[in-house]
Amino acid sequence: MIKPDAVRNGHIGAILEKITSAGFKIAAMKYTQLSKRDAQEFYAIHKERPFYGELVAFMTSGPIVSAILEKENAVEDFRALIGATNPEEAAEGTIRRLFATDITENAVHGSDSDENAAIEGAFHFSGREIY
Ligand code: CMP
Repeated sequence: MIKPDAVRNGHIGAILEKITSAGFKIAAMKYTQLSKRDAQEFYAIHKERPFYGELVAFMTSGPIVSAILEKENAVEDFRALIGATNPEEAAEGTIRRLFATDITENAVHGSDSDENAAIEGAFHFSGREIY
C-alpha cells in the first residue's frame, strides 16, 4: 500500500517509479479508501499494541493505493526498497527515507512474508482483478 500521507503529499508517481525501476511487476492495483473496519481487520495483528488506534485513524484518513507486486524474492527485496518502519532509521534512498513523515505516517506498507502477502493480496483484490 501507498499510505494516505504519501498520497496526500503527491508521491504516488515517484513511489511507483521506484517500485517499477526496481524490477517489480504490478499484478494488481487500485486507488481506494479503507473503512475503519477494513483498517482494523488489515492490522488486526497489532490490535494489542499502543499505536493501534492511531494507526487505524491514520490509515482511514484518506485514499491509498494498494497493489500486488511480483518479483523473484519479492518480500525481502521490497522491504529493502522501502527501508525501516521508522523513517529516521531507514537507509538513504529508500522509499520511507525519501517520502515518509514519521513512524506512523511511513508512506508505504509491505508484506512481511509470502504467506502474509497472499492473505493481504486477497484482502484487497478479487481473483479477476489480479493479472
Ligand atoms: P506497517 O509496515 O504498515 O506495519 C504496522 C504499522 O504500524 C507501521 O507500518 C506503522 O505505520 C505503524 N506504527 C506506528 N507506530 C509504530 C511502532 N512503534 N512500531 C511499529 N509500527 C508502528
